[in-house]
Amino acid sequence: MKAKIEPIRLQKFIADCGLASRRRAEVMISQGEVVVNGRVVTEQGVKVNPLTDKVTVGGKPLQLNPDSEKITLLLHKPIGYVTTMSDPQNRPLVKDLYRDFRERLFPIGRLDINTSGLLLCTNDGNLANQLMHPRYKFEKEYRITVAGQFRQSDLRHLRRGVELEDGFARPLRAKIIHGDDHRTILTMVIAEGRNRQVRRMIRALDFSVKALARTRLAFLTLEGVRRGDWRRLHKTELKQLQKLAAQRFERDGR
Ligand code: URA
Repeated sequence: MKAKIEPIRLQKFIADCGLASRRRAEVMISQGEVVVNGRVVTEQGVKVNPLTDKVTVGGKPLQLNPDSEKITLLLHKPIGYVTTMSDPQNRPLVKDLYRDFRERLFPIGRLDINTSGLLLCTNDGNLANQLMHPRYKFEKEYRITVAGQFRQSDLRHLRRGVELEDGFARPLRAKIIHGDDHRTILTMVIAEGRNRQVRRMIRALDFSVKALARTRLAFLTLEGVRRGDWRRLHKTELKQLQKLAAQRFERDGR
């Protein structure tokens, strides 16, 4: 007897096929990029049967392959690379750095073209969903070089938090590592991942960012991974990430 396949939500199906995270899939749906059985679907919440419904994105049919290997890379992004999967301006793509993989690995979240540092790339849509969802507050640590002298009073202001156009933002921790008249090096830990958040927080204090690097995500660091290089995450690291996500989930009571 064949196992019965239950219908699943369209965005979950897209994530399970490894095309994108669930949140990104929702955007693709609302932008009219997803076709189910020949009809463009733009409403959220539509369910599909993974075996009998034909889903295409950008003309490409999606197929659920439960045996497909999940791969997650920890990449040390150099500056000058974009984290999108294609670029109309033909700038270097982070995916060029791991082109040996046949699987379609997409970056989890984004780093600006001028930001270097730790970036996870995966074909595991569920992992991407967990790491990017605002509910799961994974710590991200940045090393920031600002132009000029950042004083203790500026640091106190940063620690109290700043008003940004999309709401108040306060770091979990911030400290000055090194400073002279020309530049100051800070480290800052945030749990959110709003667009260009670090640069905007520094800008709100009337300083400009000269260099920005993400040095840590949760317990993962760049140790042993040279710029432009990557390593695969170990099973134990993946388990630990999932455990962390589950803890946050329980704490938030959802
Ligand atoms: N914050 C920024 O401003 N830029 C990044 O690339 C990451 C975090």
